[in-house]
Amino acid sequence: MENPSKACRIILFPLPLQGHINPMIQLANILHSRGFTISIIHTQFHSPDPSKYPHFTFHLIPDGLSEDQASIHEILRVLHLLNTDCIGPARECLRKLLSTHDDIACIITDAMMYCSKDVVENLGIPRIVFRTSSICSFLAFATLPLLQEKGYYSNNNLDSRREDPVPELPPLRVKDIPSVQRPDPKHALKIIRNMVEGTKMASGLIFNTFQDLEEPNLANLYDHFRMPTFLIGPFHKFFSAASSSLLTQDRGSISWLDTQKPHSVLYVSFGSLAAMDENSAREVTWGLANSKQPFLWVVRPGLVQGSEWLEWLPNEFMEVTSQRGYIVKWAPQQEVLSHPAVGGFWTHSGWNSVLESICEGAPMICSSFFGDQTLNSRYVNDAWKLGIKLENELKREEIESAIRKIMLDREGQEIRERLLCLKEKIDVSLKTDGFSSQYLNALSDLISSFRSAGL
Ligand code: UDX
Repeated sequence: MENPSKACRIILFPLPLQGHINPMIQLANILHSRGFTISIIHTQFHSPDPSKYPHFTFHLIPDGLSEDQASIHEILRVLHLLNTDCIGPARECLRKLLSTHDDIACIITDAMMYCSKDVVENLGIPRIVFRTSSICSFLAFATLPLLQEKGYYSNNNLDSRREDPVPELPPLRVKDIPSVQRPDPKHALKIIRNMVEGTKMASGLIFNTFQDLEEPNLANLYDHFRMPTFLIGPFHKFFSAASSSLLTQDRGSISWLDTQKPHSVLYVSFGSLAAMDENSAREVTWGLANSKQPFLWVVRPGLVQGSEWLEWLPNEFMEVTSQRGYIVKWAPQQEVLSHPAVGGFWTHSGWNSVLESICEGAPMICSSFFGDQTLNSRYVNDAWKLGIKLENELKREEIESAIRKIMLDREGQEIRERLLCLKEKIDVSLKTDGFSSQYLNALSDLISSFRSAGL
């Protein structure tokens, strides 16, 4: 009998940012391995390289972003522009595809490309939303209108309540609520509301997460989003994210790790978007230096505001750490985390990084800069107990103490043991009858059913 998925084409519509492109390309590979044909509608901005994926077809749409507007440092503006300027071109592209292909089953779009609900309007194509972050952070976003009603955004005494719990969303504290500290949170709130409302209108919801980690959040999720939901992660256990890296991964980091002792190195990376001022960067350097632990540090150009790359680094730091520190612009992160020399990960708590760390059993030190990172880091620290959250502004003494706890103390060892248990659960989940595999089967069935029902 013909495999029904063989007859089906899925259109993917990613958000063109590193932390979103990686899991969308991984999802494309997962679905392709299930027999689906994959077409990707993509922007010029952060365009994928089609030559790396001869098994997919690519359809470029103009995004209207100028070089200047495309600065990833103004992420809210980029999100707004993409969601405004892409509607027409994406709709036209999709309309053409629908008129030339009779095998299209559905479109899968990033939740942050909320304009997709307008793109598909009246075209009669089912839309599945893929949220690239955790369920716990998505729930916090979905609860924002309630939190707004309860006054979390208008209270003048917010500073004095920062440490208070948010009873509506344990274990969150007031200071964890996204955008609450901004002088004018309206713009961010509008984008979040669009994402949440756009998702509520979808025919299905995909997460790159796994049941054993986020089960306690599922009932609450179904209250907000009444639709078939699929927890099919961690994606990188199926396919690596290396091929979709927008920056060149420096393989010197692996050769350097090869010279280090097992579990001795702290890997430090703050992802593709985070930026810090020079004062904070100096606290990071001295925290690393004073901890006396070997480290591999990804200093992405642009990480330190106003700098080209490393010109702000004190010479003294270079001298003190030359024997035990290695700095690169961008690393093959998954390979780094699975290297035997790595004993811990100081992360910005982006969801891909958290998942990759969990899968490789690396205890985390969690910083956070914006959006879901604050929420993910709270869950890592308080709910899952898989790392230590740096609660306040970056200070060298706190950094040094957290590094020592993770790399040398009993606390780090206990976290490593918890991670080992979770790793085993992930392996079971990916087996034929495990949770992630079952969700993937159900997702394949849903997509195939769209096709058999006809568009
Ligand atoms: C962004 C947001 O910051 C994050 O909060 C959200 O969850 C997803 O979108 P980003 O900052 O890039 O993502 O962080 P993250 O989600 O961790 O994704 C980074 C990806 O880049 C990971 O897949 C990681 O493996 C990869 N990476 C990172 C590298 O390949 N090399 C590096 O040196 C650093």
